Amino acid sequence: MRDRVPDETILELKDASFLAQGKQIVQGVSIPFEKGRTTALVGPSGGGKSTVLKLVAGLLIPTSGSALYRGEDISLMTRTRNLAFRKNAGFVFQDSALWANQSIRQILELPLKLHYPRMEAKQRTERIVTTLAGVGYRKDLDIRPAQLSMGEQKLIAFARATLCDPGILFLDEWTESLDDAAARRLVGIVKKKQEDGTTIVFVSHNFKIIRELAQRICMIVDGELSLEISGEAFAADEGLARMIERGIAQ
Ligand SMILES: Nc1ncnc2c1ncn2[C@@H]1O[C@H](COP(=O)(O)OP(=O)(O)OP(=O)(O)O)[C@@H](O)[C@H]1O
Ligand SMILES: [Mg+2]
Repeated sequence: MRDRVPDETILELKDASFLAQGKQIVQGVSIPFEKGRTTALVGPSGGGKSTVLKLVAGLLIPTSGSALYRGEDISLMTRTRNLAFRKNAGFVFQDSALWANQSIRQILELPLKLHYPRMEAKQRTERIVTTLAGVGYRKDLDIRPAQLSMGEQKLIAFARATLCDPGILFLDEWTESLDDAAARRLVGIVKKKQEDGTTIVFVSHNFKIIRELAQRICMIVDGELSLEISGEAFAADEGLARMIERGIAQ
């Protein structure tokens, strides 16, 4: 079990903005992320949730402001530091983002080969098989993503994000396209990760899942942080919960 150090900021967006193709997509967002806590990013479609998530994860570099990991600007890290950060940070992309020309086995071997270069092939296979069983994937390892449904691709994306047992999980619409049983299985895994002290930032439109997992909710509207509330306030205040539900559904 990882030590939970209260109030330790592990990630932080500081006045971060993102401009693409002349369009201001994210504007002046400042959010600290406490170690071991779960934050849900919610808001209407096209509001900028995925962009904010990628900024926190260092997958996009803010055009102004900064994204920090343990106080260090992610975009200024050395390659070695960046690799250590990547090993500790799993990311599920909204569209799964699996390599089209690789088999499921190859897709999952890649992070293990990168982050555990001395791991033997047999051990790699064992880790992959165990992780896939955990997410409920039962098909062949030697087929390509195009041969899978969107939901099955999401399972692979989730397995890839958790394969190296990261201390931080970024999950973008991670239960979308899944049936209830599969979604519950992933929620169960995320709950275990919460107990282990994993820092989690997730995007979801699923009100029930937000209510169940979020310890803090940040609403992103028109690229700005429009509301930030604790999970407790969300659970206790029906009016506030309804307002957020409407905001999510927009
Ligand atoms: N690289 C880019 N170039 C131009 N526009 C972009 C780029 N990335 C995102 N956008 C636009 O920025 C807005 C926010 O996109 P984003 O994907 O962050 O929203 P979202 O809140 O995740 O939406 P959804 O709930 O539909 O997933 C959208 O209008 C999108 O078209
Ligand atoms: Mg999105």
